[in-house]
Amino acid sequence: MNHILIIVGHPSPDSFNAALTQTAKAAISDAGGQYLVHDPYQDGFDPVLSFRKSSDPLTKRYTRDLKEVGGYIVIHPDWWGQPPAMLKGYLDLVFQDNVAYHYPEGGGRSPEGLLSGTAALVLNTSNTAPEEERDRFGGTLEHIWRDCVFGPCGVGSVQRRVFGPVADSTEEGRTQWLGEARELVADYVARNHLVGTVS
Ligand SMILES: Cc1cc2nc3c(=O)[nH]c(=O)nc-3n(C[C@H](O)[C@H](O)[C@H](O)COP(=O)(O)O)c2cc1C
Repeated sequence: MNHILIIVGHPSPDSFNAALTQTAKAAISDAGGQYLVHDPYQDGFDPVLSFRKSSDPLTKRYTRDLKEVGGYIVIHPDWWGQPPAMLKGYLDLVFQDNVAYHYPEGGGRSPEGLLSGTAALVLNTSNTAPEEERDRFGGTLEHIWRDCVFGPCGVGSVQRRVFGPVADSTEEGRTQWLGEARELVADYVARNHLVGTVS
């Protein structure tokens, strides 16, 4: 249960998000941890939920992985204050009832979290400065991941960092952000004891 699940939501392998993903992988390995990756764009995931039970093997694998990891690192850009639609579809299909959460019998309307991991780290990019993202646009990504996804699914610790604006960033600035991401991931691994093999 010590593996970290990296969930990536970006279509381009040349993007800054891809560089963040490489950085996160390297930081986990250097810290002595292990990871699995869900990259729905690269895996050709079909993100549209239809109201028939899915027999898609990729959805099954993703769902199985979700129950067997000790932590989560989510990496994606801010698209209209939300994750890219691909990642929204991933959540709809993979964070299922009785996998990520359930409604206990007689337990009222509050979901009970079922995820195995206890801590999540969310790394976002945007073309807005972090203060503007929070104060002018309402911090929607913070709210989505903390209060709407990980919180109800039982993950009590959610840390988030947004890197931006990316559009007018310099090579030097992006290198600095990658260094910061590396430190955040290393600290996340150590703080949550996500080192070593499955226990
Ligand atoms: C469809 C789309 C919607 C976007 N919406 C926003 C937005 O609402 N706020 C914002 O700051 N940036 C927005 N952006 C800019 C992206 O956040 C930015 O291009 C990305 O974070 C840069 O990282 P990348 O080089 O890895 O793609 C949007 C970009 C796209 C393509």
